[in-house]
Amino acid sequence: MIIMVQERILESLGGREITPSDSSYAGWPALLSTSDRAKPEFFEQVRDLHPDGYIVGIGAGGIFSLLKCFPVGVLPQGLVMVDINPHVVVAGRIMEQALIEAADVDVFIRNFFRVPQSMYQNQVEQIVSVDPKLKDGLTRWSLRTWMGVPSSPSEEWDKEQDEFSKLLSRFFIKDYSDHLSVPLIVTEHFLELQQLAREKRMAVVYANFIDPVFVDAVVRLPNFLSLTNIIYLTNMLDLTFGDGRLGDAGLELVIKPLRRYEESVSPPIFIFAPSSNLQRFAAVRSVNEVLSYSGFRYP
Ligand SMILES: C[S@@+](CC[C@H](N)C(=O)[O-])C[C@H]1O[C@@H](n2cnc3c(N)ncnc32)[C@H](O)[C@@H]1O
Repeated sequence: MIIMVQERILESLGGREITPSDSSYAGWPALLSTSDRAKPEFFEQVRDLHPDGYIVGIGAGGIFSLLKCFPVGVLPQGLVMVDINPHVVVAGRIMEQALIEAADVDVFIRNFFRVPQSMYQNQVEQIVSVDPKLKDGLTRWSLRTWMGVPSSPSEEWDKEQDEFSKLLSRFFIKDYSDHLSVPLIVTEHFLELQQLAREKRMAVVYANFIDPVFVDAVVRLPNFLSLTNIIYLTNMLDLTFGDGRLGDAGLELVIKPLRRYEESVSPPIFIFAPSSNLQRFAAVRSVNEVLSYSGFRYP
């Protein structure tokens, strides 16, 4: 079943500007790694809520773990990744291409996670050569973004392989059992991700997650409103509102677009990683619950 998810969303977005267009709001890039955490039983609990729709959420990192919210072998209708950091979007699209082209998971690992730096730069050029907005975004995204942006996917792969850095993180992260290794998760779910990519049910969108036009494009995807979808916010709310600088008006800016997802027949499953939960995943069924769980008072 071909859905053309990316094409449909990009068509709706047209030449729309990305706001904000710099890194001050963004936080650590959700690029093939995540600081979000979850125990295996979390995914079992969400499976019991019987999601059967799309996974829509931020970045190309923790979002891949949400495939575990579907019974083995059952695919979401589509996987929509969105980010305001152009580096994250470029890496996500290179991964999508590598999934489509790979004969098997070993070839995928070799051509994506173990790609030499120089080849990765060529792939970046290819991706932005067909997307002027993304190209412009890369030039405008201040140097500061380079912090946390891996030079290539192999950097994240090596980090997950290297015993010392595992030892190190075990030292800092008391309970390592809920660590989410994105390279490991992606290779574990290679066949599902490959099918989603080949059937055009995967989208990597350069946009603001709370842009009403982006949200409108998503809820108009085939059957979206008649399915139980997963909406992934990672710790975006803490990041955007943690310091209260945006106040109630800002909160309204976020609530309105997020409420559109509640128009579906069965309530969506909002998954987020609030600092109030030590960035462990939490799952609730309404925007109000997301806000109260995150300790935000709303008008
Ligand atoms: C929200 S945090 C996610 C990082 C999270 N802790 C993780 O480890 O997966 C930062 C990521 O979200 C992206 N981001 C932040 N605000 C966003 C927004 N309004 N729309 C889309 N992406 C956003 C940033 O560019 C960055 O990739």
